[in-house]
Amino acid sequence: MINFDHERKFLNKWEMHKWLQSNDISPGYLPDTIFYADFSNIEEMLNRYGRVYIKSVAGFGGKEVIYLSRREDRNDYILKKEQHPIQVADSIDSMVLPLSESEKYIVQQGIIFKKYKNRPICIRSHLIKDPKRGWVYIGDLVRAGGEGAVVSNVTISGGEVLPTSYIFENYDNYLKYKLYMVSQKICQSLNVIYEFKEVGIDFGIDEKGDIWIIEVNTNDAIGGPCHLLFSKLPDWTIYNKLRKMTAEIAGVPDIIMNWLFTDENQ
Ligand SMILES: Nc1ncnc2c1ncn2[C@@H]1O[C@H](COP(=O)(O)OP(=O)(O)O)[C@@H](O)[C@H]1O
Ligand SMILES: [Mg+2]
Repeated sequence: MINFDHERKFLNKWEMHKWLQSNDISPGYLPDTIFYADFSNIEEMLNRYGRVYIKSVAGFGGKEVIYLSRREDRNDYILKKEQHPIQVADSIDSMVLPLSESEKYIVQQGIIFKKYKNRPICIRSHLIKDPKRGWVYIGDLVRAGGEGAVVSNVTISGGEVLPTSYIFENYDNYLKYKLYMVSQKICQSLNVIYEFKEVGIDFGIDEKGDIWIIEVNTNDAIGGPCHLLFSKLPDWTIYNKLRKMTAEIAGVPDIIMNWLFTDENQ
C-alpha cells in the first residue's frame, strides 16, 4: 500500500521507494532501503553493507542526510552530516545520532559512486509533462558537492554544477539513453499515483557504470525540482528549453513567448 500525502500532494522517500520497487525501472537499480523503526535497523544494514545513509523521509537539499560507515582498516565507525562535526567511535552505541523524535527516517544501502576530484557527484534529470505529448525529457546535469562534502547537493555543500558529458565520457554513447529510459519509466509509473507536472531525478553512477536511483523529486504543494540549477551550466540550451516549456504550459501568449525566447534574448 502506498500512502500518498493528499494535503502536500507528495510521496515521501519511503513511499516513493516502495512505489519504485513495485515498478519496472530497469536498467536502473534501487539501493536496498528499510524504514527506520529502531536502532537495530541501522546495525542490520551496517552489517549487510558496511555503509549506510540515514535520511529523513521528508528531507530535501541534503539537510537531513547522515552517512555512517564501518571502517574495516581502522576497526571503527565514522558518522558524517553536512554542517555537523564528524564523529568517530569504536562502536555505534557511543555515537550521538543526529535524529529528531518528530521525524521519520529510512536506512539505505550506501553505494560507492563515481566521484569527481574526490567529491560526491550525482546526475539530476528533469522532466516536464506536456498536456498533449506526455512526459518530455528536458535534460540533465551533474551536481558536485564541495570539498569534503557528504552529499552532492550544491547549496548546502558549497558545490557546483557541471555538464554531464564533461564528467562522463560515455554520455553520448549510451548513458544519456539509459537516463532517458529510466526517467521515462519512472514518470510513466507516477501517472498512476497523481497528475504530477514536473519530476527531477537524482542518479548515482557506480564504477561499473550502472545507474542507481537515489531520489525522485516531484512538484508538490510547496514547491518542485529546481530550475535554476540549469542556469548555472555554461550552455543555456537546457535551461531555455525548461523555461520555454514551463511558459508554454502556463499558457503565455505567443507575442510574449516570441519576445522572451528570440535569439537575441538567449
Ligand atoms: N544510498 C546512497 N548511496 C550513496 N550516496 C547517497 C545515497 N543516498 C544519498 N546519497 C548522497 O546524498 C545526496 C542527498 O540524498 P537525497 O536522497 O537526494 O536527499 P535530499 O532529498 O536531501 O536531496 C545524494 O545526492 C547523494 O550525493
Ligand atoms: Mg536529492
